[in-house]
Amino acid sequence: MSAIEEIAKRRTFGIISHPDAGKTTLTEKLLLFGGAIQTAGAVKSNKIKKTATSDFMEIEKQRGISVATSVMAFNYKGLQINLLDTPGHKDFAEDTYRTLTAVDSVILVIDCANGVEEQTEKLMSVCRMRNTPVILFINKMDREGRDAFDLLDEVEEKLNIHVRPLSWPIGIGATFKGVYNMYEKNLNLFEASKTTIAKEVVQISDLASQELDDIVGERGAKQLRQDIDLIEGVYDPFDVNTYLKGQVAPVFFGSALNNFGVQELLDAFIRISPTPQGRPTDKRFVEPVEPKFSGFVFKIHANLDPKHRDRIAFLRIVSGKFERNTFYHHVRLDKDFKFANPTSFMASEKNIIDEAYPGDVVGLYDTGNFKIGDTLTEGENMLYQGIPSFSPEIFRELVNNDPMKTKQLEKGIQQLTDEGVAQLFIQQPGNRKIVGTVGELQFEVIQYRLKHEYGASCAFMPVNMFKACWITSDNKAKMDEFVRIKATNIAFDKDHQMVYLAESPFLLKMAEQNYPEIIFHTTSEFKRNG
Ligand code: G4P
Repeated sequence: MSAIEEIAKRRTFGIISHPDAGKTTLTEKLLLFGGAIQTAGAVKSNKIKKTATSDFMEIEKQRGISVATSVMAFNYKGLQINLLDTPGHKDFAEDTYRTLTAVDSVILVIDCANGVEEQTEKLMSVCRMRNTPVILFINKMDREGRDAFDLLDEVEEKLNIHVRPLSWPIGIGATFKGVYNMYEKNLNLFEASKTTIAKEVVQISDLASQELDDIVGERGAKQLRQDIDLIEGVYDPFDVNTYLKGQVAPVFFGSALNNFGVQELLDAFIRISPTPQGRPTDKRFVEPVEPKFSGFVFKIHANLDPKHRDRIAFLRIVSGKFERNTFYHHVRLDKDFKFANPTSFMASEKNIIDEAYPGDVVGLYDTGNFKIGDTLTEGENMLYQGIPSFSPEIFRELVNNDPMKTKQLEKGIQQLTDEGVAQLFIQQPGNRKIVGTVGELQFEVIQYRLKHEYGASCAFMPVNMFKACWITSDNKAKMDEFVRIKATNIAFDKDHQMVYLAESPFLLKMAEQNYPEIIFHTTSEFKRNG
């Protein structure tokens, strides 16, 4: 098979949702259709149970599970589907944001009763940054939920994207009869079933026909006709190109738990979702069909065995063919590396692979050479963009509890931040370490892992910080003045970029007003944009 054919048959995507909307259940059903698993219940939930007595033990368990589910590849109707896992727990949001840089499209799951929730908004804003194409799956239609039109209005308003229903529910909860597939012009009749995939599909090419009344009852048929009329009047006809540009999200309704509407979703997904896309670098845009290999690391996973420091770096291939035992150029380190045991991920199985193509994710064993965002090429000096750090939300000062283990602590915190567990900001003088995260759990993770993997003991002291802003300016004199006046709030990130740690929204606003010559960035992405 030619490289172009290899690329054409791949689809790389992620499922995103607010926790509990049904991401894990939908993932499992997709894998069932793809034949990657045989039984329901095979995909372990990577959720951290809120009731856990010991959070960090849960986290350790979660790490074990999430290595296995980081990438789930399966075949469906001749295509190779790469499903990248995105943690739903908000404390792992950074991990999810970075994974979204490695997918070409997403399926967003929304609970029909809860509508748009906090995490849904955050995840979608990351997708909007790159115009990632989105398909919407409104889940749990077997339960009482909100009116479908109201839900769609809320999505458009809160998520800043147009929607276009391609299927439409008849009733909801106790009165849920099924969905009408506007694309295929057929009716899928609902029958609650957690284990079987069987369902009844009736072709209804003319909605005015009596057949519809006979099947779903007079009331249901009348409502459906009215709804479809309204949809045709209100929403523009579905246009694949607008979807591919991330401007409109097609919508499907169903019930993941009951295996309902899932196959329609998957069939539409393979028909419309994008093939592996190119990516911008600091030098130029790279197309997937280019013959030379290139890719970037979007995730690093530490070995679960504390005796072995090796890690797995997840590399998304952007162009060319990746081959085992071939030297590739690590652009940041300006060094060449070859990989004897790159792994691919078919469902939860890991296999050593000889070659991989754009859209694929390979796992590379790493002894500490990779950081998130690193680029590998066949020699070209370019760096992939778009793996930003976002301003953390919680800040603490890291205090060394055991001065005899200072070296271990330094190394440990460096490596953990390379993995993206947290962000580290160093303040001079005094080498004061401020650790920033998006969730409380991360502090426990760091403390636990520093102790178990590096033998270092630390504590975290509260600090009064609100946001980290990367600062840049063309006006050197003003920048110097700001840095001098705000010396106690200036720190450096892992790439030695200058960061202003603002104590409150008010003080940040004041700084912005008083120093219009300085730009305050809330993500580090500007750096790669030049
Ligand atoms: P998440 O990964 O997005 O966090 O959600 P997950 O799939 O774990 O689903 C959250 C809960 O919602 C689960 O119930 C799951 O069974 C249920 N669920 C998912 N899809 C549907 C659906 O279509 N209809 C209904 N009625 N429920 C659905 P749980 O009780 O929290 O967990 P479990 O004990 O069943 O695993």
